[in-house]
Amino acid sequence: MKIAIDGTAASGKGTLARRLAAELGLPYLDTGLIYRSLAFRLIEDGGDLSDEAAAAGAARALSAEDCSDRPALRTEAVGRAASSVSAFPQVREALLAFQRDFAARPGGAVLDGRDIGTVVLPDADVKFFVTASLRERARRRAGDLGLSGDKDIAAVGEELRARDERDMARTHAPMKAADDAYVIDTTRLSPAEVLRTACEIVDGVS
Ligand code: C5P
Repeated sequence: MKIAIDGTAASGKGTLARRLAAELGLPYLDTGLIYRSLAFRLIEDGGDLSDEAAAAGAARALSAEDCSDRPALRTEAVGRAASSVSAFPQVREALLAFQRDFAARPGGAVLDGRDIGTVVLPDADVKFFVTASLRERARRRAGDLGLSGDKDIAAVGEELRARDERDMARTHAPMKAADDAYVIDTTRLSPAEVLRTACEIVDGVS
């Protein structure tokens, strides 16, 4: 079973993807982490984030170790840089085969990102598009960063809004819900409720 999970920044799609994969005993690929790793590598190497050919070359050279999850990849600055390099068609093309190969494992996989249901796995068995109000997403992301003041939450919200806007506006593989995606609004749901909702849908499909 191939499951595609897309959605807005800090919507809870990663939490859902991880829990759903564990529940179903499937491998999980966080594709945002790949774009974050690429951006991080380019920044570290002092590269030019506006050089598409160089970014595509670095994308082809990325290893699995480069993409291992760590706090340095989770900052909003790296997310912003990831959003910038992920708009390059050559970069997306360079990373496509790896994502599709991962999903082609026997038994299937859960992938989350922005274009999984539309471009990477248009034939996925189940597609979700996860979102929540900007205010709630900002509150959650600020909480992850140890921030709670209104001004801090507003600043985080502004960063999330700008990143979503860029991800939706790009011409190549923009963030959008696939026509056949189930939309889950997590604003008023706990992670356990989101998982239950998704499991019910998966059960109904399989
Ligand atoms: O999901 P996450 O916030 O880690 O993703 C970081 C950035 O990587 C996104 O804002 C988006 O620009 C890019 N991305 C993408 N396509 C994906 C996954 C992430 O363009 N499938």
